[in-house]
Amino acid sequence: MGLLLKNANIVTDKDKFLADVYIENGVISKIGENLNVKAERTIDLTGKYLMPGGIDVHTHFDIDVGIARSADNFYTGSLAAAYGGTTTIVDHMGFGPKGCNLHHQLDYYHNLAKDSVIDYSFHGVIQHIDQNILGEIDQMIEDGIPSFKGYMTYGYKLSDIEMLKLSEKLSKSGGLLTVHPENNDIIDFFREKFAAENKLSPIYHAKSRPDKCEGEAVNRMIDITNMTNCPLYIVHLSCNDALEHIKKAIDKGQKVYAETCPQYLVLDEDLYNRKDGVKYICSPPIREKSHQDKLWEGIQNGYIQTIATDHCSFNYELKKEMGEKDFRNCPNGLPGVETRMSIIFSEGVSKGRINLNKFVELVSTNPAKIFGMYPKKGAIQIGSDADLVVIDPKLKKIITAKELHENVDYTPFEGIEIVGCPVMTISQGEVIVENNKFVGEKGRGKFIKRNPFKS
Ligand code: URP
Ligand code: ZN
Ligand code: ZN
Ligand code: ZN
Repeated sequence: MGLLLKNANIVTDKDKFLADVYIENGVISKIGENLNVKAERTIDLTGKYLMPGGIDVHTHFDIDVGIARSADNFYTGSLAAAYGGTTTIVDHMGFGPKGCNLHHQLDYYHNLAKDSVIDYSFHGVIQHIDQNILGEIDQMIEDGIPSFKGYMTYGYKLSDIEMLKLSEKLSKSGGLLTVHPENNDIIDFFREKFAAENKLSPIYHAKSRPDKCEGEAVNRMIDITNMTNCPLYIVHLSCNDALEHIKKAIDKGQKVYAETCPQYLVLDEDLYNRKDGVKYICSPPIREKSHQDKLWEGIQNGYIQTIATDHCSFNYELKKEMGEKDFRNCPNGLPGVETRMSIIFSEGVSKGRINLNKFVELVSTNPAKIFGMYPKKGAIQIGSDADLVVIDPKLKKIITAKELHENVDYTPFEGIEIVGCPVMTISQGEVIVENNKFVGEKGRGKFIKRNPFKS
């Protein structure tokens, strides 16, 4: 006997209807009005929305960034995700030792992720290109990892020729290239200049990575992948300049996808001028407020297809100690895995910027489709995994770090008022969060083998 959800306002990327849902053995087995089935447990969802569970395709749990290790590991990060209505994460693995091969890093991450409380997958990380790495890609895709990340800055940035070789290989193998796009020389140029002028406070982190630094890199990657016919996914899009390049490419029919994150939609660059400005150091940086409306427009018009978090948490205490006097020494990244669904519901749906279907598309269905998990994930269909979130559209909350479960001493979203919150999370048919309490087990999450890229 299974779990019966009665009187649910079901919302998917395409539909909205009232029905009951019956779940057996972790999957949805019946959907219909007034289902008359014997259930082990029945939950009445009158007045609530039932949606596919959130899918966050950009986290960094337990990541070693060389100068620090993130505050959240796969247990605390996935627990916070579950509280926030997310039922699957796809983690961007960190770099391994110099010369590291792909499977070494994948094995290492399988071990790190075994405590996850929700389902998970990984993006392959490419830190150099040679025949061995290219030779491993087909096997990785067979192992269920069809997406690979290349960085254009940081320690293991890939050169243009490496991006060409990588994207050519991925295009032939059913892979998807995801890219952190920032022009490394522009960053170096401004860092040198600001250091010489003794301008090292947090605002200069933002000034050293201007919007054109991101836009140039996005444009370059669009041209590179156009030549190799490789699908391209831009992570953490933060600014209008980059968005304009993406719009042009999509309008011409190129397979380009873009993800943005809540921080770029609700925070503004001025925060770096505050006394605690170091908290907000992340790359690309938080932009001037004018970019927010442009990003929302990009979402509304379909040029931005997903919203993820780039959750990469470091304690404020640590960021302060390392980076307050010199932004160049601060570990980059923000927490956000727990607050994504509520911020986007509140700022998007409750404020009338997007409708309910668009919300589901952005936070669940599109991530599932682009990253080879649909309709197992991201759907409410017979046969789909019973990964679901219940949202109370009337519930109001003020975000505060004290009430979050992320293992970090601050949230960049402190004080934001939320209208509409996840109140129950169901993963593989099991209620894992209810009454603001996690009731699942550590390590219950499963590795999800993803399918090759299909446009
Ligand atoms: O500052 C950020 N975003 N840190 C996490 C790593 C990355 O660039 O995605
Ligand atoms: Zn290695
Ligand atoms: Zn990045
Ligand atoms: Zn990231």
